[in-house]
Amino acid sequence: MSGEACCECGDSAVDARVKVQNLKKIFNPKTVAIVGASSEPGKVGYQILNNVVQNGFKGKIYPINKKAKEILGVPCFTSLLDIPGDVDFAVIAVPAPLVEGVLKECAQKNVKGTVIITSGFSEIGKVKEEQALKDFADKNDIALLGPNTFGFVYTPANLNASFGPTNVTPGKIAFVSQSGALAISLMGWTMMEKIGLAAVVSLGNKADIGEKELIEYFNDDPNVSVILIYMEGIKDGRKFMTTKVRKPVVILKSGSSQRGAQAAASHTGSLSGSDKIYSAVFNQLGMMRAKTFTQAFGAATVMSMPMPQGDETVIITNGGGIGVSATDECENSGLKLLEDPVWLEEKFRSTMPEFGSTKNPIDVTGGGGCESYRKAVHIALTEDKIKSLIVLYCETAVTDPVQVAKAIVEEYNAVKRNKPIVVTMVGGERSRQAIQILNENQIPAMTEVREAVSGLKSLYTWKEISLRPKEKVKNPEIPAKALELIEAVRREGRTFLLEHESRQVLELCGVPMPKWGFATTADEAVKVAEEKKMYPIAMKIASVDIIHKSDVGGVILNIKNAEDLKARFAQMMETVKKNAPKADLLGVNLCQMVDGVQCIVGMNKDPQFGPAVMFGLGGIFVEVLKDVSFRIVPFNESEAHRLVGEIKAKKLLDGYRGQGAHKESIIKTLMAIQKISQHVKEVDINPLITNKDGSYAVDARIII
Ligand code: ACO
Repeated sequence: MSGEACCECGDSAVDARVKVQNLKKIFNPKTVAIVGASSEPGKVGYQILNNVVQNGFKGKIYPINKKAKEILGVPCFTSLLDIPGDVDFAVIAVPAPLVEGVLKECAQKNVKGTVIITSGFSEIGKVKEEQALKDFADKNDIALLGPNTFGFVYTPANLNASFGPTNVTPGKIAFVSQSGALAISLMGWTMMEKIGLAAVVSLGNKADIGEKELIEYFNDDPNVSVILIYMEGIKDGRKFMTTKVRKPVVILKSGSSQRGAQAAASHTGSLSGSDKIYSAVFNQLGMMRAKTFTQAFGAATVMSMPMPQGDETVIITNGGGIGVSATDECENSGLKLLEDPVWLEEKFRSTMPEFGSTKNPIDVTGGGGCESYRKAVHIALTEDKIKSLIVLYCETAVTDPVQVAKAIVEEYNAVKRNKPIVVTMVGGERSRQAIQILNENQIPAMTEVREAVSGLKSLYTWKEISLRPKEKVKNPEIPAKALELIEAVRREGRTFLLEHESRQVLELCGVPMPKWGFATTADEAVKVAEEKKMYPIAMKIASVDIIHKSDVGGVILNIKNAEDLKARFAQMMETVKKNAPKADLLGVNLCQMVDGVQCIVGMNKDPQFGPAVMFGLGGIFVEVLKDVSFRIVPFNESEAHRLVGEIKAKKLLDGYRGQGAHKESIIKTLMAIQKISQHVKEVDINPLITNKDGSYAVDARIII
């Protein structure tokens, strides 16, 4: 199974793969050198050596210090070059001006993995100095983490090469953080919650090793089952788009509000470059986005559960209110609760007092006690009809949460962890203890219902992602004639195509059009309209000098017949000449009037990720609700379907209140628009009107 998606711009750079391979030297070294190790406990170099030693690293440790003979009982060397034998990995913790020299020694010594702790590079504007480190590392196939990082912890190798906290709880989550401070604080939090980590990696300035390399390394690391990333931004969007995702990746990305960027949100340009693009990227790559760190860790811990073998979920609770709240969360997130009242009554009645409820949620009531939980959990775990389980507990004086937790662990182990289960325990000190017991036993437990439900939902999402077929997506080619038309306009020195030119180009690419035509005189307009049986018609002025056509009287809708058309043509020419006397009037665009749901389709160049295609509902949905989603070019038809299914008002497309959409032609439009994405700056099809019979680009604009 794999959620791997790959586009043609793919992982072509051989050195990228070498870097990923060399990460093994960082995470699983046989020998570690700490350059800048110090005998002064207040110094970073001391703390790192201390962490390496104290954490029980089994390989050889070489502190490098110009003066000291030994530090913390470990013999020192004055230089990397004095070390007899190979060195796999070097931590560099010397002042910034000395870093390049040490890196050169790494190359001389054939060290392939380095972590540069030192600050004072691009984060303070020293971009060139940092680039020099990157270039040197590239030339010598050195994997370089940092600079400006607090290092990393990798529990399977007992390696703590950081100046962060010690005693990380071992587990299967690889936590990668762009913020050092957040990583340090969350290490403490995970220890308290007994959430196990395989790795904590502080990315620092990401001069070389970034999210892509780490995801691809952990893809093949059997000690890691899920990758959790805290991200502030991506350095190289196109490179990130080539990331191969083969294990669940949960992303916590900050900066979701982009003030002002969406203010004038009526077309593609103002809606892109935003957080929505990041969401699109994560969706397209098959990564899951979390909103808070508790939600992110919740989802990550649930990923160690077995895959659900079906949709039916059962909730077991001792409180009505919390059960209702979980039901709401399930419905909102699309988790399906098992509905079979007769069967549920037959199976669960014996687990509760008479006044309990066997409707899903199964409410064993406050008086139910630990044995009620044990029995109900046992049934839920052993009955095939139930595919996943949410257990909720509200602390009461009569039932000890610790006993409930232990009963859940025993029952779950007895059935050999056969299906996913998540637990929420709400209460005081004893409930917290119960949560820790569950987490220690790899049963995800949280204090919030919302987190438990969204965690379980993430597992279902990952199941769907991992079943997606692996497909290479090619950059679509533009038809030669369409390119010719664009180039002709470019040669004229124009930056935009006129409406009829835009229509021609888009039609050649496969965008579905209503009946349309172009005419320079009233007689010609009538002839085109009659020939194409176009009535009723929308008529719009064509002029390179007029951008806002309605403002000058250049748009007339609902023209019913030839007589009307002639009269309106004359009227339009007169009004426009009066309102825009200097404009060169080329003629009129004629377009059949179409009814249906108004959508918006656009293409824009995102500065980070390149061409991005937008889809959403038009009118108020785009202006007020900004209900649009994006995908990065290139993407395939399945991805286009997911894009269409992502918008909040998708019910309208599914035929709500007699409305309806022609999905195939919407998908066709999204595929077609990609063909010109490499050759123009911006495309707007607003609106694309869709009804049961088809979709129609009623207005079209291309900027080159
Ligand atoms: N080879 C071997 N040893 C050397 C070399 C060398 N080329 N050069 C210097 N040293 C020794 C020094 O003699 C010293 O040892 P000593 O204490 O025995 O004299 C040791 O290396 C450290 O050098 P100092 O000059 O004392 O440097 P200091 O420890 O003050 O600072 C450091 C070095 C920590 C790398 C500093 O420059 C720095 O960048 N600090 C910030 C680190 C940071 O915050 N990173 C981001 C983390 S993210 C987060 O925390 C949220």
